[in-house]
Amino acid sequence: MPVVPTQRIIERAFADRYGVAAINVVNDLTLEAVLAAAEQQRSPLIVQTSVKTVEQVGLNVLYSMWLEMTEPITVPVALHLDHCPSRELISACLAKGWNSVLFDASKLSVEENKRQCVEVVAEAERYGALVEGEIEGFKRVEDMADDEEVEEQSLEVAVDFVKSTGVDIFAPAIGNAHGMYRTTPKLDSQRVTDIVAATGKPVALHGGTGMTPDQFSDLIARGCAKVNISTALKIAFMKSGYDFMTEHPGEYDPPSIFRAQRAAVLEMAASHMRLFDSVGRAW
Ligand code: 13P
Repeated sequence: MPVVPTQRIIERAFADRYGVAAINVVNDLTLEAVLAAAEQQRSPLIVQTSVKTVEQVGLNVLYSMWLEMTEPITVPVALHLDHCPSRELISACLAKGWNSVLFDASKLSVEENKRQCVEVVAEAERYGALVEGEIEGFKRVEDMADDEEVEEQSLEVAVDFVKSTGVDIFAPAIGNAHGMYRTTPKLDSQRVTDIVAATGKPVALHGGTGMTPDQFSDLIARGCAKVNISTALKIAFMKSGYDFMTEHPGEYDPPSIFRAQRAAVLEMAASHMRLFDSVGRAW
């Protein structure tokens, strides 16, 4: 059961400049498939749960699945709560055993975000858990106009946020968005370099689905040690199910469709581990 603190996974990746896939799972099948990919590739992995998934599956059921499924795992893995504005849910997940949380107070003023983030960091420390912070918020591609960009705070504000809250990793807006990009995104990679240089801390890259291999390599080299992938899993899961039903009309056999979905999600996860150079990095 090498469930390890998220810090240990990220610190190594940051020091050796490879990326760790942080993949959002949606149910038991996708959780098992991404863990199998990590095991197969001998890669560290961060498993992410959205607030929606925690609510849908149930916090206790989800955590029981995590414990049971990671029992035989021999590579370092950690469980992370993605984008959570709710202090109550953060407290509940930390108390249960999640290894890290993203406190998403991006809708609050930076001052209030900072004030509350300090409290979250203190709370997480009691459990040895990591805290990721953000101040800008990420939109979904489908909610954005073609030329729309999330407004970036100044470098000074971002660096002050990281230093004064003590977050372990920071998620800046660099022209990235959640969902599937319509065209290759234009990314402000220099901002990653500037933040890493000024804070000495790693950066979490959001909106990974649809970035090019060159963009991943460049951003990881600059210090993006955690690379978030969600939409690619949803596509692999849904499309493989759709394709299976199209190719096998009238075959209503759940285990067969589950096999196809597991294979697709496993390969999606493995391909990102290869892209991020985390293959064989398990210790
Ligand atoms: P994508 O859905 O674009 O892969 O983004 C994932 C993410 O950043 C989750 O926080």
